Amino acid sequence: MAAYIGTPTSRIDGHAKVTGAAKYAAEFNAPGLAHASLVTSTITKGRIAKIDASEAMRVAGVIDVITHKNRPTMASRDKAYKDDVAAEGSPYRPLYDDEIKFNGQPVAVVVAADADIARFAASLVRVEYIEDPFVTDLLEQRDTAHEVERPSRPRGDAEAAFAAAEVRHEADYFIPTEYHNPMELFATTVTWEGDGKLTVYDKTQGVQNVQRYLVSVFGMKPDDLKVVSPYVGGAFGSGLRPQFQVALAVIAARALERSVRLVLTRPQMYGLSYRPATIEHLALGAKALGPLEAVMHEAIAQTSEYEDFNRNDVAWADQLYKCGNTRYSHKLAKLDVSTPSDMRAPGAASGVYALECAMDELAVALKMDPLQLRFVTYSDREQNADRPYSSKKLRECYRQGAAAFGWEKRNPEPRSMRDGSELVGWGMATGVWEALQMPLTVRIVMTANGHAEVSSATSDIGTGTYTIMAQVAADMLGLPIDNVSIKLGDSTLSESPVEGGSWLAASVANSIATTAEAIRKTLLGVTKTMPDSPLADAKPKDVMLADGKIVSKKDASRAIPIADVMRAGKLDRIDQKAAAPVKDDGKYARNTHSAVFVEVRVDEQIGVIRVTRVVSAAAAGRILNTKTAHSQLLGGVVWGIGMALHEETLTDHRFGRIMNANLGEYHMPVNADIYDINCFFVDEPDATINPMGIKGVGEIGIVGVAAAIANAVYHATGKRVRDLPITIDKLRRD
Ligand code: MOS
Repeated sequence: MAAYIGTPTSRIDGHAKVTGAAKYAAEFNAPGLAHASLVTSTITKGRIAKIDASEAMRVAGVIDVITHKNRPTMASRDKAYKDDVAAEGSPYRPLYDDEIKFNGQPVAVVVAADADIARFAASLVRVEYIEDPFVTDLLEQRDTAHEVERPSRPRGDAEAAFAAAEVRHEADYFIPTEYHNPMELFATTVTWEGDGKLTVYDKTQGVQNVQRYLVSVFGMKPDDLKVVSPYVGGAFGSGLRPQFQVALAVIAARALERSVRLVLTRPQMYGLSYRPATIEHLALGAKALGPLEAVMHEAIAQTSEYEDFNRNDVAWADQLYKCGNTRYSHKLAKLDVSTPSDMRAPGAASGVYALECAMDELAVALKMDPLQLRFVTYSDREQNADRPYSSKKLRECYRQGAAAFGWEKRNPEPRSMRDGSELVGWGMATGVWEALQMPLTVRIVMTANGHAEVSSATSDIGTGTYTIMAQVAADMLGLPIDNVSIKLGDSTLSESPVEGGSWLAASVANSIATTAEAIRKTLLGVTKTMPDSPLADAKPKDVMLADGKIVSKKDASRAIPIADVMRAGKLDRIDQKAAAPVKDDGKYARNTHSAVFVEVRVDEQIGVIRVTRVVSAAAAGRILNTKTAHSQLLGGVVWGIGMALHEETLTDHRFGRIMNANLGEYHMPVNADIYDINCFFVDEPDATINPMGIKGVGEIGIVGVAAAIANAVYHATGKRVRDLPITIDKLRRD
C-alpha cells in the first residue's frame, strides 16, 4: 500500500530544475515581449510633485514611461485590492496616485525593447517630491503601539503570581526586521493574448489569489486572465500576497496592449514585505521543581501606517508549559514603512525566540538544567483552552535530541567548557508550530493505459509539493510513480488556497486520498457489471488499488486489472474531483514540536561565534517524504543560524531608507558558517488530526533555533545578548 509514502523519494521535478527545463516567471517568452523597469521613491513619505520622463523617453528603444498620471483604469475602492490573505486595513495600490507611503515605493514603470535599456532609462526619470515628516524607528514608536485582539484569554492572576514567585525573570528581547531574500527575484511575465486576454506568469505562492486580485483591481472578466506559476525559487511567505510587480506588469501590458516582463532588482525587493521588527517583553515566575507560577508575554511589532499585519507572537507558552497564571498582549506600532508579511513561522520564530531565551534565563536563576526545567514544566494539555493534543511527542524530541547531542555531559557553569582559545557553549530550546489543514480540491484523470494526471491550483514553492503529490497519488491509485503526472501552479486548475502555514501537505495529500477513493468506488461499481467478477460482493472499504489492479484487501487473489475494468465499462478515462473534508471541532490542539540542541565555539579574544553542532529533533506527525522533509528542517536550522548571528535590516532613520538592501550587506549564513547539523523526526503517529495523520514540516525547523544559539552563547561566555543578531560588538560591550 505504501510503496512511496514515507520514503526518501527524490524530487520528481529535480531533473527539470537542474537541467534548466523548469521555467520560472521571468523565463516565459512571447512575441514582441517588452521589458519593464521600476523607478522607486527616494523619499519615505509625502507626495509626488512632478515626474519628468522626457530624458528617459529620448533613449532609443524606450516605449513608454507609465506613472499614476497615465496608467490604465484601476479600481477605486479598498475592497478590490484585498487579496485572500490581506492584512486588516487599506491595501497599498501600486501606481495609484501621488501619495508616497514608504521608501522604495514604485513611482514609475519604464517600458523598453530590452531590459538593459529599460533599466538605464529608469535612472533618467526625474521625480520631485513634497516631503512630509515620517517615523521608521520602532523604538521611537513603541509607546504609541495599539493592542490587537488575540484569542488567548488571560488565566489566573499573572501580575500577582509573578510578584509572589520565589524566582523571577523579566527582560526585553528584540528581533530586527528580516527579509525573506529568496534566490528567485520577484518577477512577472504578462503575455498579451489579444482582445485584452492575459496570461500572467508570476512568482507567487497562490495563483488563484493573484488571479482574483488582478481581476478585481483591473475590473476584468475572470475568464480573461489566468495566472501561471509552475516553479518558484523560494518564497517563505513573501509570495503569499500579490506583490507589486504583478500589478505593475499588468498595468504596463494593458497600457501598451502588448506582452511585458518585469523583474525586480534585489534592492527593489526590500520595498516588499518582511518579518517585522519586534520587541518581546517576557516575565516568568517560578518556584523550584514545579510548574511555572506566572507567564507574561507582550510583543510590540511594527506595521505600516495603512495596514495592521499581526501574527501570534505571544501565546506559545500555552502550547508548551504548565502554568495557571498567564497574560498575553500583542501590540502594533505604526511606521512609515511597507506592510510586513508572513515569513517562515511568522509570530513563532520571533515570539518563541524570546520565550525560550527567557526559559533559559529562568533555569539559570533556578540553578536548574534548562532541559530539566522543560521536563518539570511540561504540559500534556494545551493550556489556554485546556484540551489534549491530537499528538505531542515533544518529550521524545527532548530525549532523543539530548541523547544524540550528548547533553548529559554538559557542565552547567558558564565559561566552564573550552577548547584551546575557544569557549564552548551548549544551549537548547523548544520549537512549536501549528498543524493546519485547508479546503483544497484535487482532480484526478486516470486513463485506461494506467496513467494518472493529478492536478490542483496549488504551488510548489520549492518545498517538494510535486513529489509528495506524486507519492500519495501513486500509492492511493496503485500505480508506479512514473505513471503519475502532476499539474499545479495554474489558476484554471481546481480550487486551492495559497501554499503557506505548513498546511499544504495535509491539505493536498488528504484530498488526493479522497479523490482516489472516488475513483476506486467508480471502478468497483463497474466490476459489479462484469461477468464472474471476483469482487462481486466486495464493498468499497474491502478493496484497494495496487499494482494496476483493483484488489480485495482480504484476498489478494481476488483482483481485476484496472485496464480490464475500464474496458468493460467502456471508459477510456475516469475523471474525478474531490476535496477532503476539513474538520476541526476544536477538541484537540494541533501542533508540531521540536527540541533543538546547539554547540557554539566563541573565540575568546575576538568574539567570533561559530555554530559547530546542531541537533534538531522534530515531531510532526506522519512524514510523507523523509528526504524533502529532512531538507525542510535543515533549511530551517540554517535560517535560524542566520537569525541568531547574521540577519539584520539596517535603516537610516533620518531618511527612512534601508542601508543594506542587497545580498552583499544583508548578512546571512554561507557555507563557511555551517558545520554539523543533525535533523531528524521522532515517530509521531496521529490518528486524530486527519485521515493520513499529516502535520506539515515547512516551518517548525526554524522555531527555537535562534534561542538555542543565544542560550549556547550565554553558556560559552557568561554574556547574555538579547537583541538579535548576536554580533561581535554586542558580545564585547559591557
Ligand atoms: Mo509561509 S510564512 O506561510 O509561506
